[in-house]
Amino acid sequence: MQKVTKPFNFARMGTAEEFKNTMTQAGLPFPVDENVDVLATPVKLGNKVIPNRMCIQPLEGFDGNPDGSPSELIFRRYKRYAEGGAGLLWYESITVADDGRCNPLQMVIKPSTVSEIKRLVDESNAAAVAKYGRRPYNVLQLTHSGRRSTDKDWNPTPLAVVPNPYIDHHNSIDGRSGKITFATDEKIEEIIQGFINAATLAYEAGFDSVDIKVCHEYILRELLAAYNRPGKFGGSFENRTRAVFMIIDGIRKNLGDKLDICVRLNAYDCIPYPHGWGMKKEEGVMEPDLTETIQLCKMLVGKGVSLINISTMMPRYQPYGRGYLAELEGSEINPYAGTYHLLKATKEIKEAVPEGVFVCTGLTWLEQFGGSVAAGGINQGWFDIGGFGRQGFAYPDFAYDLMNDKTMHRYKCCVTCDKCYDLIQKGHCQTGCVVRDQEVYLPLYRKNVQGK
Ligand SMILES: Cc1cc2nc3c(=O)[nH]c(=O)nc-3n(C[C@H](O)[C@H](O)[C@H](O)COP(=O)(O)O)c2cc1C
Ligand code: SF4
Repeated sequence: MQKVTKPFNFARMGTAEEFKNTMTQAGLPFPVDENVDVLATPVKLGNKVIPNRMCIQPLEGFDGNPDGSPSELIFRRYKRYAEGGAGLLWYESITVADDGRCNPLQMVIKPSTVSEIKRLVDESNAAAVAKYGRRPYNVLQLTHSGRRSTDKDWNPTPLAVVPNPYIDHHNSIDGRSGKITFATDEKIEEIIQGFINAATLAYEAGFDSVDIKVCHEYILRELLAAYNRPGKFGGSFENRTRAVFMIIDGIRKNLGDKLDICVRLNAYDCIPYPHGWGMKKEEGVMEPDLTETIQLCKMLVGKGVSLINISTMMPRYQPYGRGYLAELEGSEINPYAGTYHLLKATKEIKEAVPEGVFVCTGLTWLEQFGGSVAAGGINQGWFDIGGFGRQGFAYPDFAYDLMNDKTMHRYKCCVTCDKCYDLIQKGHCQTGCVVRDQEVYLPLYRKNVQGK
């Protein structure tokens, strides 16, 4: 497994200014603003409003019911998020097909689960209204796990779209390969139809928007990098992006403007061309090239898909050196450099596509300074909304504190220990914050991870 280096001692940094100076001296000039007032301002999106500029990123808890409906732990999670005050709740990935789950307890959106998913949204909204007199803007992330698919016993059942020598040996979340099936064009069309049908159910459940997930290891992201796939879903830019636009057009045909559409998109894959998206088109070279990413963002915004959440395989990977491969090889990873590069890429994309509303990824790495970087990034035009992932697990009311106390409290922050990841990777069980939400998750950690 990888070694994550942590050269900075955030506990000893008293002010955002100190943080900024230390990071700048280390060659990572993050945008920083001590004044976080901008985070409380709304963002207009068509005829809807996102009430503030703080987003809880999608974080799957691996804790649905076996039938694909939300469990009590999921109801608890979204109530905590709603009460925590973030204006944009990006609900965790939910699969559009039973065979597209990345773990046996991932939620599935289908006619038999939609009423419980609606109850989840209703109860979360009610909790926000009770506290703030308004509800958040709710996005549901739709996915098919593709290479990451598993069966009900956690055995990998990878469905890939093209061979990839860099990652074919490492498909499931715990690093196993499984026997790869390659999707035919007909299978891809079936999955596309699954996204379109799922969007109608998401609308019935009361979501403001659906995210056509085009990031991380999942199937639509893999299609973006399918340079070597023959046929209508591979090769040219038009073919590699075809599935995304077929889904968008299909949803619009059924629902018109009743449901917003957005995407979570990899800026770059940290896997060299011709096996990675957003990378310099020279074989084997680990270097980003955002030309196609920017082209895709322009086309999406042109289609009214203006909310775009920029990610990469994981923000801790730099698109240089060994990139994503460092994870597979156990090489050293500096997550602060990875996060800085991802934010810088987001800035380049935002500058090229100013009409887009961009959410950034990776702020949890910056612990109590995440709010100041979110504010600095917005004020300096790097992105529009600050996206917090694990901080949502650890510190669901960080947004409330940023709006009321104008700061994040270190004693509540995520300590970036990776234990929530260990719960899924090593423990194959439900996940949440082992450190700040001990009552629920420490017993799970002791039982399923410690000693393994
Ligand atoms: C346990 C866990 C579950 C996650 N689930 C999802 C998911 O469902 N969809 C997604 O796009 N990203 C998922 N992510 C990635 C996060 O959204 C986020 O990009 C990542 O944690 C980095 O941001 P952070 O540094 O703010 O945590 C998950 C991450 C973790 C640790
Ligand atoms: S378990 Fe560790 S990494 Fe995960 S949310 Fe909690 S403090 Fe953060």
